[in-house]
Amino acid sequence: MSERELRVSKIKDGTVIDHIRGGYALDVVNILGITGKEKRVMTIAVNVPSKRFGVKDIVKIEGKALNAEELNRIALVAPHASINFIKNYEVLEKFEVKLPQAIEGILKCQNPCCVVNNGEPVKPKFHVVHEEPMVLKCHYCGVSLEQADVFAQL
Ligand code: CTP
Ligand code: ZN
Repeated sequence: MSERELRVSKIKDGTVIDHIRGGYALDVVNILGITGKEKRVMTIAVNVPSKRFGVKDIVKIEGKALNAEELNRIALVAPHASINFIKNYEVLEKFEVKLPQAIEGILKCQNPCCVVNNGEPVKPKFHVVHEEPMVLKCHYCGVSLEQADVFAQL
């Protein structure tokens, strides 16, 4: 993209979540628990042209390097997102998000009879049984959770 067309500027330090499927940036922000009240500079670009994907979304969070748990959350809603850690304007590290084998404490089990929904001090836990399309299975009751169910929980 030429300088004339530049939509969002480069950042000095922080994290750029790139190659999010067009229209899903707000889901990424949601699953990270970011509300905009954190006094952090953040840029969200939605449905911008991309050579590789037609359109894509981008989220730039300044002054913050996301941790492993946060990166796992992103994988649940944006399986091909690339993460760029920026330091002093340079891309220090670049990688794709990846679903962890087990997902703990982020998503709820949809089975009302599941032990995690019955007042026990048990954190919900899911295993990945299929990556694309994503299918998760509750560790406790075996009920499965699909991509659409994940979005519905946000
Ligand atoms: N970026 C940024 N601030 C910087 C450096 C990079 O916001 N100081 C952003 C770029 O705008 C881009 C992403 O981080 O969205 C990755 O940067 P870069 O690796 O330079 O771009 P590409 O080569 O296009 O990345 P890829 O090969 O992953 O598509
Ligand atoms: Zn369950």
